[in-house]
Amino acid sequence: MCAERSEEDTLKSPGNGTDMPSHVPVMADEVVDFFTGGLNKGLLVDGTAGAGGHLELLSRALPGMSFLAVDRDPAAVEMLRRRFSDNPDVTVRHGSYTEIPEIIKELDSGKASAALFDLGLSSIQLDDPLRGFSYRYEGPLDMRFDDSTGTTAGELLNRISEKEIADLIYKYGEEGRSRRIAKAIVLNRPIITTLELAEIISASVRRNSFKILSRVFQALRIAVNGELDQLEMLIDDLEHWTEADARIAFITFHSIEDRKIKLLFRDTPGYRQHSPRWVVPCEDEVRRNRRARSARLRMGIRV
Ligand SMILES: C[S@@+](CC[C@H](N)C(=O)[O-])C[C@H]1O[C@@H](n2cnc3c(N)ncnc32)[C@H](O)[C@@H]1O
Repeated sequence: MCAERSEEDTLKSPGNGTDMPSHVPVMADEVVDFFTGGLNKGLLVDGTAGAGGHLELLSRALPGMSFLAVDRDPAAVEMLRRRFSDNPDVTVRHGSYTEIPEIIKELDSGKASAALFDLGLSSIQLDDPLRGFSYRYEGPLDMRFDDSTGTTAGELLNRISEKEIADLIYKYGEEGRSRRIAKAIVLNRPIITTLELAEIISASVRRNSFKILSRVFQALRIAVNGELDQLEMLIDDLEHWTEADARIAFITFHSIEDRKIKLLFRDTPGYRQHSPRWVVPCEDEVRRNRRARSARLRMGIRV
């Protein structure tokens, strides 16, 4: 499946015609096709609404439905509120997707007939030096999706043991040089900024490898935000707030997450895999949006 869209269309689509920072929604046509394929009414929950790129397209494609947009990042929520202020069909709430059952209850909106989760972080978050997600820009080592609460990446790295650092780099970053990197981190503590950390990592492996840097930064982000625990909680709870026949889609960027979703749709009673079971971005999309290259879309139906 590969959409016929020009580079200009893709670059324009998420910007909403405003000067707000933008994020290009991944596999947007495939996501829209999946949801429009079997839905025309009810509630669609976007549990990781981000910049609202997918949501905007879905709200246009499914005029009979109502939409709940949730995001853990207060700045994203503020942007979503502005973006959808003229759309009475879209309700925006701040919170984790693990809090969706309470949000739905409070709204008295009934169970969802569709849900989308586009995991990970947005380009807007990655490109903001003050959020500390990127090894390319100097900034504080923060990395919290919700920067109003919790422990920053700097606080975590400067506190935990060398073994704990090595384990998280190995487990969440799937980086084989984890012990060497962890040793260098501990020797150079305290580490305050993103570029300081990037230099320590590069020196420890004696090369400037973007792959290694991005694996270590991704691992730290996953640990700081408890992303795998959050996903487990979401998976455990999903059947309680989605209707029978609900269409559910996940976009993942990490093999551990993808495996969890595969097991959910393939092996868990109460779900079946949709066909095709998964989709990756076509070459053209990857050429237009490099950040899409490691994405995988999995689709399932509640039975
Ligand atoms: C890849 S972006 C989503 C982009 C969105 N689909 C779009 O088209 O603009 C992922 C978003 O998920 C949010 N997020 C991460 N973990 C979350 C969680 N546990 N609950 C809710 N939102 C979360 C991040 O703050 C980020 O805004």
